Amino acid sequence: MMARMDPAIHRGGIPLPDRYRRFAQREARGVSAVYETWAREVAGDEAVLALLDTLPPAKQQPNLVFAAARHHGAEQEYLSFRSTVTGRWEEVRETISTHATQTNEAGRCAVLLPFLAELPQPLALLEVGASAGLCLLPDRYSYGYDDGTAVDPASGPSAVRLPCALGPGVTAPPALPEVVWRAGIDVAPIDVADDDACSWLETLVWPEQEGRRQRLHAALTIARRDPPRVVRGDLLSALPDLVSEAPADATLVIFHSAVLAYLSADDRARFVELVGAMPGHWISNESEGVIASLPSPVRAPADQGRFLLAVDGQPRALTDPHGRAMSGVRLP
Ligand SMILES: C[S@@+](CC[C@H](N)C(=O)[O-])C[C@H]1O[C@@H](n2cnc3c(N)ncnc32)[C@H](O)[C@@H]1O
Repeated sequence: MMARMDPAIHRGGIPLPDRYRRFAQREARGVSAVYETWAREVAGDEAVLALLDTLPPAKQQPNLVFAAARHHGAEQEYLSFRSTVTGRWEEVRETISTHATQTNEAGRCAVLLPFLAELPQPLALLEVGASAGLCLLPDRYSYGYDDGTAVDPASGPSAVRLPCALGPGVTAPPALPEVVWRAGIDVAPIDVADDDACSWLETLVWPEQEGRRQRLHAALTIARRDPPRVVRGDLLSALPDLVSEAPADATLVIFHSAVLAYLSADDRARFVELVGAMPGHWISNESEGVIASLPSPVRAPADQGRFLLAVDGQPRALTDPHGRAMSGVRLP
């Protein structure tokens, strides 16, 4: 029997229908017509809202609920989503409870590459918040910068080719970095040998983003041939030990993208202090404002929503969140 809608639907601060309406308007519109429709419909669907209301607020996020429904067979029509959620609720709820939204975007290597290439080679790469470790493999992908520069692995073009548009103030890298050591840290690492975990990662890519999904699949296939080591742990506590394992005769690069927003402001400040006391170089690629100590660059209209990439605490580029474009920074 369907649970009755109750006033507790307002738990978690924002009323649940408003949360879905907002997601439709602010996040899905213009990106995913499927998710925009689903979110708008959920906001007015008492039966579905009543089921979602039984979840803890942190698990009610549209991204997670929608991915879980697709994981259990929901197709693009809202009716398909609805019948999956209402008809297979116990399975959908189990997936929601045991899984989290997580990404791993190999495309971000395209905006890291110019800065990796300017450091003394060879490199020891250490990524915090590495997910499946796909950004630890910049030397296994091909790149196509829009100034005509093509960069390929020595073994030939990769099945993953990352296009990137260059704006003023940045130049394409002349070659791939030479990586002699690599390791990552993540609170919830994705094992690239685990089919289920990889399939979930692919399901998290929004429905219409077929190109991204194919690229993710190809990057996971590349990673499976020689999986990057990703240690389970919190980036604050696990970093010093992993740094001590890096070879002394390579340039250590500690880097991260789309990670520090998951930390409290205090922990972010702790991390900045910690990484500043470590040897080697630090490349951060995060939403602006996430690292409070970085100055804000001037933004052109095309730069709105871009991440701020900094090397050793100095802003160097504004980057598309998926690595498709970048431009140099201008400070006021
Ligand atoms: C949005 S994903 C980005 C993954 C990868 N950096 C990329 O650019 O594709 C954020 C990752 O940070 C991890 N993470 C969040 N908080 C963390 C923490 N305190 N310590 C280690 N990893 C953390 C999450 O588990 C997740 O895999």
